[in-house]
Amino acid sequence: MSNSLQHLAIIMDGNGRWAAALGKDRSFGHKKGADNMKNLAIKASELDIKVLTLYAFSTENWKRSEKEVNYLMKLPGLFFDVYLKEIMKANIRVEFIGFIDKLPASTRKVVKNAVESTKMNTGMLLNLAVNYGSQQEIVQAVKDYTSDVIEGKRENDLEVADFSNYLMTKEHSHVDLLIRTSGEFRLSNFLLWQISYAELFFTDTLFPDFTPDLLEEAVLAYSSRDRRFGGAK
Ligand code: IPE
Ligand code: IPE
Ligand code: MG
Repeated sequence: MSNSLQHLAIIMDGNGRWAAALGKDRSFGHKKGADNMKNLAIKASELDIKVLTLYAFSTENWKRSEKEVNYLMKLPGLFFDVYLKEIMKANIRVEFIGFIDKLPASTRKVVKNAVESTKMNTGMLLNLAVNYGSQQEIVQAVKDYTSDVIEGKRENDLEVADFSNYLMTKEHSHVDLLIRTSGEFRLSNFLLWQISYAELFFTDTLFPDFTPDLLEEAVLAYSSRDRRFGGAK
């Protein structure tokens, strides 16, 4: 075991199918998924992971039914009402990436409170991607960079390393391991820049069934990967 795992990102997929298999509404699956999110966050912090980025709602998820979108917008509130205490106890700091200003006011309030309540915590960073889309993030970063140049705040001398600072992930940009549950082999507009050298791990397990033990197995599999970053042995 050698590879250090600083930044883990998870595409939490399969909540709807998990609920459908039980004959339940999709929101039941999202509720279970949220419970599992907390379990995985605690496990990741025990595994000494520094940053855990979870894909909770994409810029494309607005296409879903009004009922489902409304439930997903309420979910952060339900999550922090129940789990904030445990998150504090685990010394986890919470941040968000995504177009937060486009969320309903009640969701924005939950986001603000979660960040504020946990900002002094010194343990793992739990980064929740809500209304996040990677292509939109990159376009926004290009616009911000261009404005800086036009306004004379910087030279037109952009390098790969400092482009990362224009992204929502800022100093935590580089992902070491990306996991996607539910048997889909795609990225769905998640962290396209940030995963350029990430190890990828796909599992058929639906997100609500992806237990902390299964996370530990994925981390173990990662630790024996041969990361070469373009070099040769
Ligand atoms: C992931 O589960 C959660 C979100 C995208 C919000 P899905 O809701 O995509 O579940 P499936 O893929 O339909 O089973
Ligand atoms: C990706 O899952 C988004 C989240 C997990 C939040 P989707 O279920 O939305 O992705 P597609 O539509 O299958 O690509
Ligand atoms: Mg899905």
